[in-house]
This record gives sequence, structure tokens and C-alpha cells, in this order.
Amino acid sequence: MAERLSVQIDAENDAFTNAVKDQLLTTLPKADTAALEWLVMEHYQFSFANKGLLQKAVDCTKKLADKGVSVELQRNVDEEDGHAPMYKKGMLEAGTDMDERVEFLPTTRFLADVDALCAPNPSRALGSLYATETAAIFEHEVLYEICKEICDRRGFTYDGSLIKRFHDIHLEDGVEQGHKDGLAAFVDLGPDAADGDGEPIDMDEVRKGALDAIRVMRVWWDALLNKSLGHSVLSAA
Ligand SMILES: [Fe+2]
Ligand SMILES: [Fe+2]
Repeated sequence: MAERLSVQIDAENDAFTNAVKDQLLTTLPKADTAALEWLVMEHYQFSFANKGLLQKAVDCTKKLADKGVSVELQRNVDEEDGHAPMYKKGMLEAGTDMDERVEFLPTTRFLADVDALCAPNPSRALGSLYATETAAIFEHEVLYEICKEICDRRGFTYDGSLIKRFHDIHLEDGVEQGHKDGLAAFVDLGPDAADGDGEPIDMDEVRKGALDAIRVMRVWWDALLNKSLGHSVLSAA
């Protein structure tokens, strides 16, 4: 029997997220504090845009016969409420003001690319968001360490801080794993999931959407690593 689609997508995602994670975690002790702070500011842009992107996909996936996809994405939107302000406040307490960030075009392009995947094709949106929600686990894992490193260097106690709590709710409390698992159920059910009027889930479009999302995340992280560390493991791969 062929492997479940979610498992196939995870393998593609893991290949790039593991490469980025390895590079970031090994370079962390010798990276400039300014470069680390810059990475946090860029990641915050995704956090800030996230609710809007998800909401677009909520509306688009209402076209599917299986209303569960849209319901699950709405649950995700509701859960994200207040997270970006918490990220901003947590870093401000640690000495980083997100408002000092200067636009970085690859991030602008990345957010526009994800936005374009969230509609109008609902199956593609499902695949794309399954991929981005899966990568969110890795993002919080590396950003947890980056924020900790910044705090340690500044003599700001990470334990008990708002910024640590921000990453902990996404990892320890299982928020991101819940988002991934919630969508995986529909990624793997495909057209059989239909229980109402509307379009069936198109597995080919789900797959395409996921691979497109992984491609744009890869391009973004490649640009982030090149700018912050001066090189990237992804360029050659
Ligand atoms: Fe969140
Ligand atoms: Fe999420």
C-alpha cells in the first residue's frame, strides 16, 4: 500500500527543515547577536501575517464538500488569537523592538507566495497549510533556541519569561502538533471525506499545494540563512 500522503509530504518537509535546524543550531554560539535578533524579527512577520493567511484559507475551503477542513482551519485561527502580540511583547521585554525592523524583500515575497496558495483552490490550500503548519513545529524549535541565546547574552532570564512561554505553548502545549494533526486527517482522507455539497478533496492538488509551500519556505529560509549567517546549506542542495 502506498504511504499516506501526509507522510510523503512530511518527508519533503523534514529534508529541508532538518538541514536548516542543523545549520542554525551549530552556528548559534558564534553568530552575531544582531543577526539572531534579525532572524527573530523576520520570523515575527510570518507570525503577524499568519491569522490573515489562515482566515483566507478558511473562506476558500468552505467550497469543499467536507466542511471539516474549514472548521479545523477556523479552530486554528481562533487559537492563534493574541499570539503575535505576545511574541512582540515578549521580545520587547528581552530588549528587541519588532517595530525597528526594516523590510526584507524575500520575506515580503514569501508572505505573498503563501497568500497566493491560500486561495482560490481549496485542495491546494489544504496541502499548503498542512505543509506550513508542519514546518511551524521546526520554526518554534529553532526560534526557541535563538530567543534563549539572545536572552542569555543580554543577561535576561529566559526561564519564566513571556517569550519562553510563547514558544512553549506552541511546542510543549502541543498547539502546532494539533494544527498539523488536525489537517493531516483531511490530507489523508481525500475525496472519501465528502459529507455535503461542494467540491471533493483533490489529492493531486493537495500534494501540489504542499510541495509549492515547501518550495517557497525553502527559498525564504535560504534567503534568511544567507543574510544572517553569510551562507546557506540549502543553496547547494
Ligand atoms: Fe501561534
Ligand atoms: Fe499553527
